[in-house]
Amino acid sequence: MTMSKASTPRSIALFGANSGIATEVARLYAERGASLVLVGRDGAALERAADDLRVRGAPKVEILIAEFSHTESVADVAAAAWQALGSLDLALIAYGSLPDQAQAQKDHAAAERALVLNFVSPALLADALAERFEAQRSGTIAVITSVAGDRGRQSNYIYGAAKGGLQRFLEGLRHRLHPAGVAVLDVRPGFVSTAMTEHLPRGGPLWAEPNKVAADIARAVERRRAVVYTPWFWGLIMTIVRNLPRPLFHRSKL
Ligand SMILES: NC(=O)c1ccc[n+]([C@@H]2O[C@H](COP(=O)([O-])OP(=O)(O)OC[C@H]3O[C@@H](n4cnc5c(N)ncnc54)[C@H](OP(=O)(O)O)[C@@H]3O)[C@@H](O)[C@H]2O)c1
Repeated sequence: MTMSKASTPRSIALFGANSGIATEVARLYAERGASLVLVGRDGAALERAADDLRVRGAPKVEILIAEFSHTESVADVAAAAWQALGSLDLALIAYGSLPDQAQAQKDHAAAERALVLNFVSPALLADALAERFEAQRSGTIAVITSVAGDRGRQSNYIYGAAKGGLQRFLEGLRHRLHPAGVAVLDVRPGFVSTAMTEHLPRGGPLWAEPNKVAADIARAVERRRAVVYTPWFWGLIMTIVRNLPRPLFHRSKL
């Protein structure tokens, strides 16, 4: 089913609103005249972003402060974001952290923090939002997972497991919300030039800018897609990676 122009989202919550990708999603929708609620932990950065988004055309921009690793409070955060705009057409869960795999596999507290922030917290937040969208019988819950969730690899299996778990969670949530007409979008980016990847050598055809990813997210929301690889060629790459025979895969340094 294709969303009509009239149902382009007008009320949007961005969780992890200061993320490089969410910043570009907010700009895109502000320029289309949507109202926004920005949820994050850095109030000063959120205020700066809100000023910028009002100039770009957002009629209303609200701010909420949240520490997403505090999983006991995510239900309250969902309720506050919903109330800030009266209701929501689109919720985008965009926060996350990329742990150092070698360190996290020795330091279980660090591994636990990464698993909580990248899986437990966004899963519980999506669930808390789901009951409101389900009662409303419309809208989209979009969550940024990662291509890293598609197959466990020695170089990042803690982050990858969290994102893979989140993919399965969203699959089930999508199944649950289908009768209510609520879309659940799983966004799977490859390498994106944001603060998260600042420490990595960048450049080359596999790297994307966050505005490109934001445009892909908006298009997938309009088309009510279930899963979107961004840029698109990651869908092909991950089909190959997922299907590599194990003996070959184990010889790789992926
Ligand atoms: N960049 C990539 O190559 C890539 C690839 C695949 C998937 N992703 C996913 O895309 C999403 C967006 O990431 P990004 O690339 O835009 O990176 P980013 O710019 O580093 O954004 C990460 C955001 O998460 C927030 N955050 C981290 N821990 C938090 C906490 N405990 N409480 C509240 N907020 C917290 C950060 O807040 P502060 O601004 O306050 O630090 C930041 O705004 C993430 O889910 C990431 O895993 C990214």
